[in-house]
Amino acid sequence: MSFAPLAPFAVNNRKTHNPEQETEYSSRAEYLDALEDIATNPDLDETFGDVLQRRLSRRAAIARILGAGTLGTAPFSAFAGRSGGGDPRRAFRFTEIARGVDRTHHAAPGHRAEILIRWGDPMVADAPDFDPYKQSATAQLLQFGYNNDFTVYVPLPYGSDNSEHGLLCVNHEYTDAEMMFPRSQEKGRPSTRERIDIEMACNGGSVVEVRKGANSWKVVPGSRFARRISASHTEMRISGPAAGHPRMQTSADPGGRRVIGTLNNCAGGITPWGTWLMAEENFNKYFIGSLRGHPERQSFDRYGVPGNGFAWGKFHDRFHIEREPHEANRFGWIVEVDPYDPKSVPVKRTAMGRFKHEGAATVVNGDGRLVVYSGDDQRFEFLYKFVSRDPVNPVDRSANRDLLDNGTLFAAKFADDGTLQWLPLLHGRNGLDRRNGFRDQGDVMIEARRAASLLGATPMDRPEDVEPDPRNGRVYVMLTNNARRRADAIDGANPRSHNLWGQVLELITPGNDHAAENARWELLVKAGDPADAEVGAVWNPATSKNGWFACPDNCAIDPFGRLWVCSDQGGNWRRTSGGADGLWALQTEGNARGTGRMFFRAPVGAEMTGPSFTPDGRTLFLSVQHPGTAGTRHFPGFERSSSFDDPATRWPDFDPGLPPRPSVVAITKDDGGRIGG
Ligand code: FEO
Ligand code: CA
Ligand code: CA
Repeated sequence: MSFAPLAPFAVNNRKTHNPEQETEYSSRAEYLDALEDIATNPDLDETFGDVLQRRLSRRAAIARILGAGTLGTAPFSAFAGRSGGGDPRRAFRFTEIARGVDRTHHAAPGHRAEILIRWGDPMVADAPDFDPYKQSATAQLLQFGYNNDFTVYVPLPYGSDNSEHGLLCVNHEYTDAEMMFPRSQEKGRPSTRERIDIEMACNGGSVVEVRKGANSWKVVPGSRFARRISASHTEMRISGPAAGHPRMQTSADPGGRRVIGTLNNCAGGITPWGTWLMAEENFNKYFIGSLRGHPERQSFDRYGVPGNGFAWGKFHDRFHIEREPHEANRFGWIVEVDPYDPKSVPVKRTAMGRFKHEGAATVVNGDGRLVVYSGDDQRFEFLYKFVSRDPVNPVDRSANRDLLDNGTLFAAKFADDGTLQWLPLLHGRNGLDRRNGFRDQGDVMIEARRAASLLGATPMDRPEDVEPDPRNGRVYVMLTNNARRRADAIDGANPRSHNLWGQVLELITPGNDHAAENARWELLVKAGDPADAEVGAVWNPATSKNGWFACPDNCAIDPFGRLWVCSDQGGNWRRTSGGADGLWALQTEGNARGTGRMFFRAPVGAEMTGPSFTPDGRTLFLSVQHPGTAGTRHFPGFERSSSFDDPATRWPDFDPGLPPRPSVVAITKDDGGRIGG
């Protein structure tokens, strides 16, 4: 059965009405997921001169590669010329699992994967038990939220490296009504106020106290740290250049400095002072209405506002842009939360710009300043980094309280010769001034995308997670896919047209200086099946038929400096890899550089997110998001849309009375050793 968007939430973005792009979806959630693939960057309507220039430079790049005779020169320096086995501590020593798809998860031999917490599990002492047939917003605000995504472990007490007792900070990205509520696929069934309020309560995040017992990890009941952050109830402060800005003011908040809630919290990060950064990604989907003749119209078009994906605005005026147009300017930020203080007020840090932040990965630079890398996950959008003005205070945590309010946001411009430039988004410089509609730095941050376009940043193949390696100044960038890149618009860093598979870039900072305004880059792998010449994948030849992946998304570097990559193929999995999403180890050093190895496989329809290691590297927390949802029409033996009443899997409980539930998994090794050997 194909899926049609629920009335009245037909997508009104003009760029979705391209017949060539029409496709069928297994579920509404899958359809909504596909919305993030829409390109809203208007600068892609290139002139003939642009195209010609591109072709010439592409020819030059190809000639350079072919001339080298191998893949051994920049920017394709993947494997040749790397002698030796690299640092032995960075080698992976586990037996990989097989590509495939079924109703449950699989971990590499010798590793145990246990369900730690699921959607609806009680978070606080007086929370009701989960009953999917008696859901309420009140109950959900006390229970673990939906679609867990970013997951990070912070030790208890603060400042220790305790790997057996800590807090798990988990983002809840979005809701899948079809999978959450009985009979919700009935065509035309209206959204009720109660259902919308439950969904609002499901967005946001959770802080969960966890402890490792003799045999397994457990949630600590009645924890004083336990906290739910929601889209509907959590009051937040707005700080930085856009705080108090006229475009941030609403009728409920005439000062433009307070906002209720956070939503679509995708990946994130952790600061050296133990605060959790939640990235607001596809915020546009939550706004309904139509904005004509309003000064924000052009800016909203660039962000796809209103996305008309969820019905929140039917019952809450602030999500209806005709009633409260500025509310949409108050989302799309990085939110900083102190998990050690459950009463702390989260802060939206506007100095890091407004876009569809995938995540916010931090590294302390050699000069003590904090650098935060963040991808803007939409086709043809940009890669960014923020460099703080002031150094991190390593001994006084409170001294860093407002560190993220002052600094410079940069967007990346990649050159085909393997270099890149970081372009500063500073008001008054390089055209970011009144002539182009930027009255102040607040405007530049609210319209970071347009500012970066004006500077000439490189449109990328959907930047997802970014992970700096603190040991060597290298940075790994996941570019997940971009089916709409045309053959005449490829470049060195985005080298394939109709790119269904994505690529992993490695940035090399000069002298390990993450604050520098230039760097070098290389392609680590071009994802997809290396056995299929038409895919054009590039992997180390040592990669097995299970070791390659498609659509890299979240990633992590473990305490031994090893890179791990999650995949998110969406409903296209049958075409991109033929198997379920999972977690792969990806070698970055030595002769094995560019070799993938499959470690964990998700159940059908799920996406892999949130890898996070304990400091000792002996536990790995993984988030399994939307089990039983994406691409179930291609699941052999099922071959239809999945729903609450008729799900493709009932993972993880396999209880006929329960729907599939997004859950966090704790992975340990049977012998107590480090994950991945
Ligand atoms: Fe929410 Fe880009 O993944
Ligand atoms: Ca993601
Ligand atoms: Ca993704």
